[in-house]
Amino acid sequence: MTNYSFPPEFVSDLRSRIDIVELVGDYVALTKSGVNYKGLCPFHGEKTPSFTVHQGKAIFHCFGCGVGGDAISFLRQIENLSYPETLVRLAARAGIDISPYERRQGSVEAQAKARSERENLERAVACAQNFFTTLLQANLNGRVGLYLKKRGIDPVQAKAFGLGFAPDSWSSLKDELGRQRIDERVAVAAGLLVQKEGSNRSYDRFRDRLIFPIRDVSGTVIGFGGRSLGDGEPKYLNSPESPIFNKRRLLYDLHHARPAIAKTGSAFLVEGYMDALALYLRGIDNVIATLGTALSEENVVAVKRYTKKVAIFFDNDRAGRAAAFRSLPLFMAVGIMPDIVLMPEGIKDPDQLAAGLDDQGLQEALEQQTSLFDYFLREKGGGLDGYNDRLQFLREVLEMILRLPDDPLRGMALRSTAETLRLAEEIVLDEYRRMRQHRQQHPARGFERSSSSSAVTTAKGVSSQSVSRPVSQPEEIILATLLDYPQLEEEFKENYLELVENRDCCRLYTELVQGAGGCNRTLLEHLAGSGEDDSLCTLYARLVHLPAPAEDLEMARKVVDDCFASLRQRQGREQARNLDRELTQCRDEEQMFALLRRKMEIKKSLMAS
Ligand code: UTP
Ligand code: MN
Repeated sequence: MTNYSFPPEFVSDLRSRIDIVELVGDYVALTKSGVNYKGLCPFHGEKTPSFTVHQGKAIFHCFGCGVGGDAISFLRQIENLSYPETLVRLAARAGIDISPYERRQGSVEAQAKARSERENLERAVACAQNFFTTLLQANLNGRVGLYLKKRGIDPVQAKAFGLGFAPDSWSSLKDELGRQRIDERVAVAAGLLVQKEGSNRSYDRFRDRLIFPIRDVSGTVIGFGGRSLGDGEPKYLNSPESPIFNKRRLLYDLHHARPAIAKTGSAFLVEGYMDALALYLRGIDNVIATLGTALSEENVVAVKRYTKKVAIFFDNDRAGRAAAFRSLPLFMAVGIMPDIVLMPEGIKDPDQLAAGLDDQGLQEALEQQTSLFDYFLREKGGGLDGYNDRLQFLREVLEMILRLPDDPLRGMALRSTAETLRLAEEIVLDEYRRMRQHRQQHPARGFERSSSSSAVTTAKGVSSQSVSRPVSQPEEIILATLLDYPQLEEEFKENYLELVENRDCCRLYTELVQGAGGCNRTLLEHLAGSGEDDSLCTLYARLVHLPAPAEDLEMARKVVDDCFASLRQRQGREQARNLDRELTQCRDEEQMFALLRRKMEIKKSLMAS
């Protein structure tokens, strides 16, 4: 990142100019409650709001998990930014010019070097976005203009949406990037240019395509989807994965949809860029899409941050329904019971639906929703007759119900199941209990186990679940750090498995370190995608979402060191407690002295560390 040097006055001025309620409101649905605002904590899973924002004091605090701070620390944690990055974002938000604080370097090269990898990639992508949009406006009379007309998009709308045009050329973007002095290697890493195999020459990735910019949640363009103007294959070409472009984490157009989701309290999830655009053009803004990939656990966790009322609005065909059904267990695992929009027969997708209706007709069509779970039961189970088929399907459904973190939702889902499968409720409940018990006895495969038994409340009245699962325990921070800095693992002589009791953490650690020869993100992506080990995937998804524990290797080393120290402390205290227990029961003088000596030793090492 460009180097800035912000004086303390700048930071306090910035803080005073940011309305914390507005800022937090971008991420959390807040309601006024006395002098405070309340909402569901975005940093830990909870069902009753314990997250409060105090507008006057400009601070936030969660009574459930203990996070708290000011606008700067909120943004920093929720967006996973470094401190300077956070200040830059907030300054932009407050409309403060930060160029006076820039630390100028001599040459263009020196300046580029001073920027972080991320910033270089973003610059390259921004440059391409400029290029594409300018070309679109310049070619409205050409092929791309015709295509827009065909799809019912006028030039003003195209501009508002940031649509662009990549011409039919192997090097026009490449030349432009050269003129803007963007490093070719950076352009390749950002996926704008493709490196020719076995040579160091590169060429434009996007050619003869209508370009959809893909933004992250802050609105920064980080990649593109290119629609072929004719029958060229593939129909859509997307930016490849890069350090700034992660399809599992991204939701298309969330940046634009976020305020509308907050306002309406609900979101439509569509499959295609064109579907999102078509609805946007008709004034429906609370629309997000996946990026041509299967919905991921990260996606679902992200959606839940903004709303629990989701309507799936996929293509009206077998594939669309199958994709909707595949998304169901993912949503249920985070406590969302989505709806599905039912389209009239013969209508292919939301784009086509919108095209054929006036505003009122469209509104009415969008309201044709039903519970996806009930729909699934009817479609897949309604026609089943044989005993074996019905039992097998019942078990499949119960698996999903077991994932639900909410008891009332489970009850309702169980009832629907019994009705649709024409089974007595007792039968469904019996099988459900049997499966639940099995899970409790084999927790390794269990899902959201802690939440099913979260009725216990502690003295403070906070649910034990939120207390026992605070934002980040040392054992989790170590894992999160190792994900980013796998090379650290070899440096640590500590035995993680001896110090950590949490089973899932231990298993993930083993996967990380011993699986496939070293830390391997792709292995885990695969693991999380296959859905074969749910509790592990949930943990993994959570770790990926933790604010980055360290900014560089040096700091990472220190973080891991500190975490091991606190794990040792914890183990020491635990051992001391056990010794105390043994001591109270000990009747043998000799043994008592031995126990006391051990306790002293532990105490000593606790003090030393
Ligand atoms: P669709 O084929 O349904 O896209 O694919 P669409 O948006 O309705 O496209 P039009 O109306 O024919 O122009 C849904 C999504 O799947 C991804 C894209 O994200 C697309 O929006 N996709 C599809 C690809 O990534 N590559 C492809 O070749 C096709
Ligand atoms: Mn379409």
